[in-house]
Amino acid sequence: TSAALGDGPLKGKHILVTSGPTHEPIDPVRYIANRSSGAQGTAIAAALRDLGARVSFVTGPADVPPPQGVDVIAVQTAAEMKTAVDRALPADAAIFAAAVADWRVTSASGSKIKKTNGKLPEITFSENEDILAGVSALKKNRPALVVGFAAETDDVIAHATAKRARKGCDWIVANDVSPETGIMGGSENDVTLITAEGLENWPRMAKSEVARTLAARIAAALNG
Ligand code: CTP
Ligand code: CA
Repeated sequence: TSAALGDGPLKGKHILVTSGPTHEPIDPVRYIANRSSGAQGTAIAAALRDLGARVSFVTGPADVPPPQGVDVIAVQTAAEMKTAVDRALPADAAIFAAAVADWRVTSASGSKIKKTNGKLPEITFSENEDILAGVSALKKNRPALVVGFAAETDDVIAHATAKRARKGCDWIVANDVSPETGIMGGSENDVTLITAEGLENWPRMAKSEVARTLAARIAAALNG
């Protein structure tokens, strides 16, 4: 493949990809998390590698194994993911496919919380830092292309368009993850690419094909 030759349109480019869920501990045996198999982020990293990019792959605990031929940085929590992203910069592009937990447990317990005669534990949450928004706002070291994802239900395009503006990223890949679409945990995806130029609805296709299409678009954007 072109990856074996270190060749292709992304030769010499460094691309950061976040993927998978994050796990936020409650105690040593329990956590809260987002639903995410990591399939789409993994496919994107593989597609970028196939175009010759050096890929830093920052992944939470995903169901699918990471691709071969990329630098894998495995993390558990959103805070760890943020630290890993900061360390992986600078990059020519950064793709944020991770389903980052929005909240962490403020004071995770160091020992297992025990049941106590029906008395319920009270869990207090703190909001996690927005990694994508932070990278988008960088003055120094901002990647030339910053891409976010927006997995939404209801008013998908309106939510995703607002999200692109709020986070300051260049592109948003939006998709409808309502249960009836079968996208979450499935092998296909149905995305709309939102850029400064407007909307592009791509036909429903395999996640691997979405990844190849996006990687080709990234190569075209980075090569002017
Ligand atoms: N993201 C991130 N860090 C966070 C939360 C989200 O980097 N703490 C990134 C995701 O990887 C994704 C994008 O931001 O690329 C959008 O995530 P999403 O959860 O849809 O956005 P939120 O701003 O958290 O909004 P919502 O209330 O819809 O969850
Ligand atoms: Ca979120």
